[in-house]
Parts: sequence; C-alpha cells; structure tokens
Amino acid sequence: MTDLRQDDLRRGFDAAAADFTALGSYLWDPIGAAMVAIAAPAEGARVLDACCGTGASALPAARRVGPHGAVDAVDVSGPLIDELRRRSTGLPQLRGHRADVTTWTGADYDVVQCALGIFFFPDMTAGTEHLISRARPGGRVALTIWRGDAMAAAGHHLGRAVAEATNTPALGQRPPSLIDRINQADSYAAWLAERGLTDVDVTVEERHLTMSPEVAWLVILGSGYRAALVKLSPDVVEGVRERYLASLRADGVTELDATTLIGSGHRP
Ligand SMILES: C[S@@+](CC[C@H](N)C(=O)[O-])C[C@H]1O[C@@H](n2cnc3c(N)ncnc32)[C@H](O)[C@@H]1O
Repeated sequence: MTDLRQDDLRRGFDAAAADFTALGSYLWDPIGAAMVAIAAPAEGARVLDACCGTGASALPAARRVGPHGAVDAVDVSGPLIDELRRRSTGLPQLRGHRADVTTWTGADYDVVQCALGIFFFPDMTAGTEHLISRARPGGRVALTIWRGDAMAAAGHHLGRAVAEATNTPALGQRPPSLIDRINQADSYAAWLAERGLTDVDVTVEERHLTMSPEVAWLVILGSGYRAALVKLSPDVVEGVRERYLASLRADGVTELDATTLIGSGHRP
C-alpha cells in the first residue's frame, strides 16, 4: 500500500462503511468465514474479534457461540461499528465496541481473532502480543494477513490515477516494514512463534477476485484504499475512478490476488 498516515486511514475506513459491507460479499465475508472455521469457537465460548470492521468474522463467530457465548467486536471506526450493530440484529451475544484494540483490557477469552488488522497497528509486534495476551491460557488465537503482494495491484493503479487526476507526483511506496518480511507462510509462522504462540499453523487461502469495473472500484471504496480519496472533491474522485479503471484495462488486469495467510495457535 502507498504511504498513508494513520488519521487518513481512520477517516478512510469511516467514509467506507456502506461500501465496506458491499465489498464484504466478494472479499471480507469469505475471508472472515475462513478464519472463523480455523479459530472454531465452541458453543458458549467468549471471543474477542479485533479490528472487526462491519463484522465479517464477528458475525459468524457470534452464530457459532450461540446465545450462551459472547463476542466482543472492537474497531476504532465508529461508522463501521454502527454498521456492524445494524447487521447483528437478533444476535445479542455480539457486542460492538468503538475502541483501539491495542489497549483493550478485556481478558481471558477462549478465542482471540483478527482478520486483516494487525498490520495497521503502529507497532505491529507490541499490538499482536497484546492481542495474544487477551486469550486465556490455552486459548485459541487466529490472525489473518495478506500473503505477499496480495491487493497491491489495486493500490498501484489507484496511486497512478490519483497522481494524474490531481496533477501531483505519485505518493511514494511506503518504506519497507515488518509486514513485508513476514508475509509468507514460513516467515509468518516463525514470527507468531516468537510472539509466544504454541502449536502454530499457517493456512494459505488462495483467493482471486474478478475485477469487473464495479468490483474494481468497490475494492477502493470499501477498503483502506478509500483513505486516498478522503480529501478529494467528488469531481476529482470521478476523474480518479475513470483513470484507475483505464489504467487497469491498459495493463490487462482482470484479476486481483487476494490470498490470505491465517496464522493460528494457542496461548501457552
Ligand atoms: C481491512 S479492515 C478489516 C476489517 C474486518 N476484520 C474484516 O475482515 O472485514 C481493517 C480494520 O482494522 C481497524 N483497525 C485498525 N487499527 C485498529 C486498532 N488499533 N484498533 C481497532 N481497530 C483497528 C480499521 O478501522 C478497519 O476496520
């Protein structure tokens, strides 16, 4: 992803709420369901769903734990939590909280899960260790990240389009960071073991998104990429959309790699 500041990212997610749900059926929901199948919360379990968005993994977890369980779903974005609450009618065991999960004090969860969130933490290592510490001893932890350059093509073409539409130099690639060193199955497993997880396993979930023009634009509107648009007027955003789609066409991009790594293990 290109270099975006934390507050821009937050505003991007806030603005994305409705589109986030729309993109969910293509992307977030299957990715969340795959993680929940691995986290496998039992009926009656207590679950922490960190960086919950609009509930792609919190909703299926709430259905699994049933009315005698509880799911605390935590996200910094108020509009995403509002959308999650709308989607969770009839599931009183699912409680949405607007909070920074890296300082969440709830503890002793049977399952701690986080889909596509830990790489947004300003200190990814400390934030992940905090999540692991929220599980009870012996509790299950499942943390999903993108594999390698998954999703990067969308960011590349968006960056190009924003630069052209605003007549400004393209945003530089963000400097290499920890996530770039651990985004393959082996390196991710080793890093999770260093964080103190036992029985670590990493499942590769191959996923490819067919980039019709509608889906390709939804990938921007309904994700963290939305942050690149928050300061632009509607006219300029329309120019970005046209240039982005033209740029994808020119490079023959018809599919987007959306493969994830689901890391799991237990808190000792
Ligand atoms: C790519 S979205 C994934 C959302 C959801 N897990 C899903 O799979 O649909 C990343 C989410 O992480 C949230 N987030 C980032 N940093 C956070 C933090 N420190 N505490 C809570 N939520 C955070 C963002 O607001 C955003 O909703």
